[in-house]
Amino acid sequence: MKDLDIKELDGGVGAEIHGVDLQKLSNSEFASIRDAFVKYGLIFFREQPISPEQHIEFAERWGEININRFFAKVEGYDQIAEVLKEKDQELNIGGAWHTDHSYDDIPAMGSILVAKEVPDQGGDTLFANMYKAYENLSDGFKETLSNLKAIHSSRHVFGEQSSYGEQTNNQIRNPELATQDAIHPVIITHPESGKKALYVNPSFTIGIEGWSKEESRALLDFLYSQAVSEENITRFKWKKDSIAFWDNRCTWHYALNDYPGKRRLMHRITVEGSKIS
Ligand code: SIN
Repeated sequence: MKDLDIKELDGGVGAEIHGVDLQKLSNSEFASIRDAFVKYGLIFFREQPISPEQHIEFAERWGEININRFFAKVEGYDQIAEVLKEKDQELNIGGAWHTDHSYDDIPAMGSILVAKEVPDQGGDTLFANMYKAYENLSDGFKETLSNLKAIHSSRHVFGEQSSYGEQTNNQIRNPELATQDAIHPVIITHPESGKKALYVNPSFTIGIEGWSKEESRALLDFLYSQAVSEENITRFKWKKDSIAFWDNRCTWHYALNDYPGKRRLMHRITVEGSKIS
């Protein structure tokens, strides 16, 4: 395996990897990147002007690509979702804390986001560390949470009753396909690191199995307030050709919407995961 230049970021989560060219990645560099991904749960690269074909090729080294059923696609590349905010668009995509696809029975492993066009100011993404969110809880509370399962859904975000599509210039589509609900443990053991992580999120978790709406709300709100404590969070400032690759099983992310009148275009590929428990 090749030693890479890896700088752990200040803040809650993630590391920046330098000294590699994703356009010609050796097997040994790839093995080191995989180790870093498992260790940090979130990795970033700078100055990687990869083409859509190279984006797909890189993603396929990690696993099967999940073709997102709600996002607009990059023309000619069904595997790549377009994360676009036009100058005159008010709502952005991903502008609330979430982890991708928790509403699926087998949630996505991770997402690889490439910056194609970014505003000169604003448009950063926040990431939060769900290992730390779990670790910071008391032993007694961890024990209680270990017996609970949470219900996740896509319907209220992407479904017929949501105005997300309209509000994002039709960037979000196919509301009739938002039929997914899933039940996952509130605390999961990460399949690769073996570490425990909090696995509920403000966008897609709709309740605790067997609990009333009010009881669920109270517990989830408490967990969320703990999860976003300042020491758990990293803020990433994009430049064109920056890349972020996050692990959905141990992080949340939040795309800030603070650049009115400017365009921001990202390409995202989501990689399939495995059953979580
Ligand atoms: C997303 O939630 O996938 C988008 C994140 C971003 O645009 O920064």
